[in-house]
Amino acid sequence: MVSNNKTRGYALAVLMVASATLSACGGSSETPAAPTVQAMSDAALAGEALFSDKSLSASGQQSCGTCHIKSRAFTADPAVDKGLPVPLGGVNMDEPGFRNAPSLMYAAFTPAFSLEDGAASGGFFRDGRASTLAAQAVQPFVNSFEMANQDAAEVVSRLKNSPDTLRLYVEAYGADSLNDANQALNNIGAALAAYETEDIAEFEPFTSKFDAYVDGKVTLSERELNGLALFNNPGKGNCTSCHPSVHQEFSSRALFTDFSYDNIGIPRNWHIPANSATTRNPITGASLKYMPTPVNVPNDAEYSYYDMGICGPFVADPQDGGARPDLAHLLPSCGQFKVPTLRNIALTAPYFHNGVFAEIHQAVEWYITRDINNNTGNNPTPVPAGPGGNPYEAVGTFYVAADGTPDLYQYNDLPVLYDANVNAGEVPYTAPAIAGGNGPTMTAQEIDDLVLFLCTLTDGFDPNHPSAYNVPSQCQPIASPSP
Ligand code: HEC
Ligand code: HEC
Repeated sequence: MVSNNKTRGYALAVLMVASATLSACGGSSETPAAPTVQAMSDAALAGEALFSDKSLSASGQQSCGTCHIKSRAFTADPAVDKGLPVPLGGVNMDEPGFRNAPSLMYAAFTPAFSLEDGAASGGFFRDGRASTLAAQAVQPFVNSFEMANQDAAEVVSRLKNSPDTLRLYVEAYGADSLNDANQALNNIGAALAAYETEDIAEFEPFTSKFDAYVDGKVTLSERELNGLALFNNPGKGNCTSCHPSVHQEFSSRALFTDFSYDNIGIPRNWHIPANSATTRNPITGASLKYMPTPVNVPNDAEYSYYDMGICGPFVADPQDGGARPDLAHLLPSCGQFKVPTLRNIALTAPYFHNGVFAEIHQAVEWYITRDINNNTGNNPTPVPAGPGGNPYEAVGTFYVAADGTPDLYQYNDLPVLYDANVNAGEVPYTAPAIAGGNGPTMTAQEIDDLVLFLCTLTDGFDPNHPSAYNVPSQCQPIASPSP
């Protein structure tokens, strides 16, 4: 958070006490929410069918589940999207989107959008523009670069031709409800929301190794524990200040997001077609069919398209009554995105709203060297790689221009006019002097330990069969192991 570091500092102090208690007593200070297995409502059963019904899209090839794949904690797969960090959709499945799809796991805990003293929190989508899960869920059906139906009536006529899903829909809402297409689409949204909320085993299982540790059912390895300590340490990772490792009011377990918004100045991803100079469709070679109208982009900006999160370019659907107000006037918030959960982070590559990093290691490396060794035009004193510089990379900067050379500007996914919006007042961004210099807060081995800890947030750990726990290869340490 840029505007209220004080509040966050205070919250952090409380968190640190809580996590100290947690490790001192073997990890049982949280009240576990034993997930009660309840039968799903008719609405949720309809939602489950709707979620994976491709026949409801104009292409006949896309459902919610195409971009939110279960084995990837309900995120998209760049391999499915021809290598792009944003999903493909549309009538011919060749229209690229604009953002990396977030995980749907634990999303049901998201509070309503609020704005207090300029500090935003909650709401759905990475910019909070949908008021509820139900209001969010109607949008992909009629979005031209996603499921691409013309209108609610087209969605309903497709539903009428999909007997299995139709039967479950009618059981939940009655056949008469199909007469009003807008009402039927709203029911479809409500059904999807019920599924995402009620199917605890799929969306809110809390079965990670970390949860078993908190319950005292397993010990973490020395390196994982060190990673947790680094995650919580205000002078090292300080990750917990935005991704709390202890539970808050939203849930009885830690969600690793406080649902606040922050501008952390991540690098531009040139593989998003809208970001490229030509804004051409890499699949068809034609101009992009849909480009959002720029909002708040100054005339002298370096590039023509910017995704600036809660201040544009995407605005709320006028049908969504309780939606986030249009914040286009709130210039200090330009570039802020919602803090995502880090649960299942090992499964959800690529990372950040623009998918700029393919691996967690890179994301962490970027966090701790962001303002240290970028050889960009606006950094007068770049610290080179090697001791005191970037623990991993041989070359200097994550901030590159379209041709791969160092960009003239560091925070190149924001017009320079808004550089001051970037959060520069907190660790890990402003690295305190360690080892006699303005060096990164962690060594390569500490980064590995932090990543090992983040991998314990992967669901599917069974304390009775710990060896069956399957975490992806990116969880392996890169640096040589501690002696
Ligand atoms: C073409 C790919 C695609 C399809 C199809 C799709 N989504 Fe998404 N989804 C995304 C992307 C990309 C975002 C992030 C967009 C943004 O922040 O503006 C997203 C965001 C979301 C979110 C917000 C999560 C949060 O934490 O704020 C939810 C919930 C969601 N999708 C559910 C669904 C459901 C339900 C469906 C089916 C009706 C669906 N999606 C279909 C790509 C897709
Ligand atoms: C000041 C708040 C803040 C701090 C401190 C912070 N983060 Fe984040 N984190 C964010 C925000 C905001 C995003 C989303 C940014 C975006 O998508 O543009 C994010 C996104 C991420 C992501 C990508 C998640 C995804 O689903 O794509 C990872 C991984 C991550 N953070 C890890 C960490 C780690 C590890 C630390 C500590 C070294 C940390 N964060 C510290 C605010 C913070």
